Amino acid sequence: MSDTISWRELWDDTARLHSRVHARWLCEEACGAWGEEFDDVLEQPVTERSVAHLDAMLARLRNGEPLQYVLGHWSFRHLDLLVDDRVLIPRPETEWVAGVAIDAARQQPRPVRCADLGTGSGAIGLSLLHELPRGSSEVWLTDASPDALDVARANNAGIGINGAGARFAHGSWYDALPADLAGTFGVVAANPPYIADGDPAVDPSVHEWEPGMALYAGSDGLSALRMIVGGAPHWLQPGGWLVLEIGTGQGESVAALFEDAGLVDVQVQPDLAGHDRVVIGRRP
Ligand SMILES: C[S@@+](CC[C@H](N)C(=O)[O-])C[C@H]1O[C@@H](n2cnc3c(N)ncnc32)[C@H](O)[C@@H]1O
Repeated sequence: MSDTISWRELWDDTARLHSRVHARWLCEEACGAWGEEFDDVLEQPVTERSVAHLDAMLARLRNGEPLQYVLGHWSFRHLDLLVDDRVLIPRPETEWVAGVAIDAARQQPRPVRCADLGTGSGAIGLSLLHELPRGSSEVWLTDASPDALDVARANNAGIGINGAGARFAHGSWYDALPADLAGTFGVVAANPPYIADGDPAVDPSVHEWEPGMALYAGSDGLSALRMIVGGAPHWLQPGGWLVLEIGTGQGESVAALFEDAGLVDVQVQPDLAGHDRVVIGRRP
């Protein structure tokens, strides 16, 4: 009797521990064949080396590490982004926020200059570059974390020619940007940290594994949002849009910050689950 096991059998075994779709992603990773290529090898024998790789991934999951970090990449809109514990795992709701930023950029005269402040993996900024017409945008991707910028740079390399308009800058919010670009941005977008320090509702796995500086923003969760909204009129061009992801229940407070800063056409938009998720407003 043969002591080899096929990829189909290993996938079935793994699906006893994890959902069938997650089990497949783990097996694809261990195999080094994804999608249709994995279908083609389902009846082939698994090598010892691949089993060891899968075992190592399963051990990391048992230890509580998020699936996205274990796989090492995660899909965001049209991109497959490298992710690890240097960056926040890009969330589905942020895919929609990026879509709002892309629509706002399309309303601006070309070429349009955009900023993604606190870019993390590069999710929002690289989606702007990838989805706007080629060559029509320059996108500043900034972060206070040099590690996060390394991840964003690696992801930029993965989008090829569309990434030519990317500019990377390290620093706190607008401090990262060259002073002579003040008043020239058609869109400033950000998904800043917006969880209140010590919020007991935070999933323990998120708290333990994702970077604290990507999550927490002072006692009311608004400290980063305040700084970004406050600086926007100085950096946006007339008619330029500020697009910010916010936490559930922050819509009213953040809309008031937009209005206090003199931004107009302020709107709070809910996500598909009906939670306040994005606030937009433009410089008059
Ligand atoms: C919620 S994460 C968002 C990451 C990414 N934009 C996304 O949507 O997946 C917030 C990001 O802001 C960065 N950040 C935190 N404080 C910052 C600051 N003072 N200036 C610039 N970036 C900051 C964090 O390092 C993190 O990458």
